Amino acid sequence: MTMKIADTRGKFLTIEGTEGVGKSTNIAYIQSYLTSQGIEVLTTREPGGTPLAEDIRELLLQNRDEKMDETAELLLVFAARAQHLQTVILPALERGQWVLCDRFTDATYAYQGGGRGLDLALIEMLEQRIQGDIRPDLTLLLDIDVTIGLERAGRRGELDRFEHEHVAFFEKVRHAYLARAATFPERYGVVDASQSLEQVQLQVRDHLAHFLQ
Ligand code: TMP
Repeated sequence: MTMKIADTRGKFLTIEGTEGVGKSTNIAYIQSYLTSQGIEVLTTREPGGTPLAEDIRELLLQNRDEKMDETAELLLVFAARAQHLQTVILPALERGQWVLCDRFTDATYAYQGGGRGLDLALIEMLEQRIQGDIRPDLTLLLDIDVTIGLERAGRRGELDRFEHEHVAFFEKVRHAYLARAATFPERYGVVDASQSLEQVQLQVRDHLAHFLQ
C-alpha cells in the first residue's frame, strides 16, 4: 500500500479547536467561500466519516459506567482514522478533490497527548504507520477561552463523554493545540474565536485567501 500521492491531488484542510468553539458554523462558511472560488470541497469529520468510523465515534463519545482506558481511546481514534483515510479521504484527494475535515490528528495530539497525557512518541508512531506522508495542507485552529467554549457546548444539550471532562483537561487540550500551531506555523492559521462571528469569518477568509495564493 503506497501512501504517496501525486501533486495533482486535492488539498487537505482541517479545522480544530476545543469544545463550543464554533467549528460547524465556520465549516459552512469555509465551504461556501471555497465554492465561490470555484473549488469543490468534500466535507467530513473525525472521528467518523464512514459508517464503520461513525460507529467507532459512537463508542468514543457515549457515556458509560466503565472507564475507557486511555490507550484504548487512542487506538479507537486511529482505527476510525485508518478506515476514514483509506475509504474517503485518500480517494477524494487522489481524484483531485479538496477535503475539509472537522478535526484530524492534531486533535489526537491535543486530546490524547495534551489532555490525557499519553506518550507523544506513541501518537507519532501511529500517525506515521497509518497516514504515511499524509498531513493537512492547512489547519485552521479556532481558539477560545475554554470556559466560554464549554458554556456554549453545554447549551447544545446533553454532554458527551469528552464534554464531561473538567476545565483543567480542556486547558491542557487548548495549550497542546497552541503549542502545535507554534511548531507548525506554515500550515496552521490560528483564529481568535472569542470575537464576533463576522470578525471570526473575516480572519478565516484571510487565512483561506492567503492559502489560495
Ligand atoms: P466533535 O467532533 O463533535 O467536536 O467531537 C469529537 C470529540 O472527539 C471531541 O471531544 C474531541 C474528540 N477527539 C479526540 O479526543 N481525539 C481525536 O483524534 C479526535 C478526532 C476527536
